[in-house]
Amino acid sequence: MSVWNYAPGVTKATFNLHQQHHVGLVDSRIFGGFLEHMGRAVYEGIFDPPSVQADEFGCRTDVVGALSELDFTVMRYPGGNFVSNYHWRDGVGPVDERPTRRELAWGTIEPNTFGTNEFLSLCERTGWSPMFAVNLGTGTPEEAADWVEYTNGNPTTELGRQRAKDDPMSVQPVPLWCLGNEMDGPWQIGHMSAAEYGTKARQAAHMMKLVDPTIELVVSGTSLPESSTYLAWDQIALESVGGFADYLSTHRYLDNYSGDTAAFLTSGVAIDRQIAEIDSVCRYVAGRRRSSRRPFIAFDEWNVWYRTRNRAGMWADGQFPAHLVEEVYDLQDALVCAQFLMSFIRNADVVKVANLAQIANVIAPVLTNGDNLLRQTIFEALAMFVGRRTGNSLRLGYRGPVIPSPEFESVAMVDGAAILNGDNELYVFAVNRSVDSKVELTVELSGSHLEPVSCDLLHHSDPTAQNTWDSPDLVRRSGMEMSSGPALMVELPPHCLVAMTLKVS
Ligand code: AHR
Repeated sequence: MSVWNYAPGVTKATFNLHQQHHVGLVDSRIFGGFLEHMGRAVYEGIFDPPSVQADEFGCRTDVVGALSELDFTVMRYPGGNFVSNYHWRDGVGPVDERPTRRELAWGTIEPNTFGTNEFLSLCERTGWSPMFAVNLGTGTPEEAADWVEYTNGNPTTELGRQRAKDDPMSVQPVPLWCLGNEMDGPWQIGHMSAAEYGTKARQAAHMMKLVDPTIELVVSGTSLPESSTYLAWDQIALESVGGFADYLSTHRYLDNYSGDTAAFLTSGVAIDRQIAEIDSVCRYVAGRRRSSRRPFIAFDEWNVWYRTRNRAGMWADGQFPAHLVEEVYDLQDALVCAQFLMSFIRNADVVKVANLAQIANVIAPVLTNGDNLLRQTIFEALAMFVGRRTGNSLRLGYRGPVIPSPEFESVAMVDGAAILNGDNELYVFAVNRSVDSKVELTVELSGSHLEPVSCDLLHHSDPTAQNTWDSPDLVRRSGMEMSSGPALMVELPPHCLVAMTLKVS
């Protein structure tokens, strides 16, 4: 976004768009999710056979039904930190023969009643494209390659035959694989240096692609931008994995520890910055290899997370299933989540995959309590992108007020993204980051006439408003009026998200 007019105090803003100024096609996989064996994400979240909500597969129809409203495309599984002490063979074959294990990432007990085939069968029913992470902590490159053989091989091999026996209905191969998770982090089981990781990841990548050359691989990048190895780890890991690397992973959880709503609402700028930095490593490494085939970005964990990000909230102490990191979100969190998605759209040429972490109970858009389900504020924001995600991301010129920011200098008061679908439908997203100013927003598209089709608003007078079990509908999206003419205008209340569908003529 180019901020080209500094005009403090002005409450009018314009998005200038041009039909031919494409950033790139929006990859549908940026609307992905992430399901980890952690807390009550799988057990009591997605999979809950005793619940009255359970279907014939033991999956909760209310949870899966609510998630289907969010239309996730790819789904990352089974972790996360969990995967670094997970052996996939524990989770296949007859359920009553599967081992119960002590799980060391989150301190829980893993019954293994939900595993590879239960997940893949769920993917078949929901339309999610599976994205697996392999264990490069306690696991070996051979175990990783065997998993590819099991899921993607055919019954000419022993593992292919075993899969056909374990899940005769299955047809879905796994196209996308992560080479470990956050291996740079000292908290990670099997944590190692970038050079050690690079060697192990390359060995795994080599074997996995020998088994199935069509799979795509994600190299594990630095997990926290604050880390001392940020970007240096990424460079070493990418260089080691070389031509086997299709994507470089990056993660980010934004927070509001200071309780400063005004500052928090500008924090989406950090995502643009992180994407630019990670992209520069991808280009640098490709350049050094004299390769025209560059790795792209898989932003494979993102969300707001801070209230429950502490030892007590993250350690199950032998309980199963434990209530871990069940963050209750408010409106401002939802507005920051929307900024993540808008940043991925604006960077459509380099961000090809992104996964909301996570999908049920654990830092998630839905919570369960017994047989009941709650849609959080972030659910509402994500839902506003559904049906408005296909097409070319357009460069967005911004004219309007800015917010002074100690961290980012000045930040556009209205954050925006736009997608042009074919020639005649335009989707525009806008977050008013101001906590106290209304903004009259005009959208212009290179002289074209814009007619309103639909417009959704997410707003509440209190940015800290939450949906809770006592008031489950406090923060809900609603329809809103737009005025049309040569340009299109909409009035944004303070701290809000708006999503528009416009007809172009
Ligand atoms: O999403 C929760 C955890 O956050 C993941 O397991 C880990 O990869 C990250 O640190």
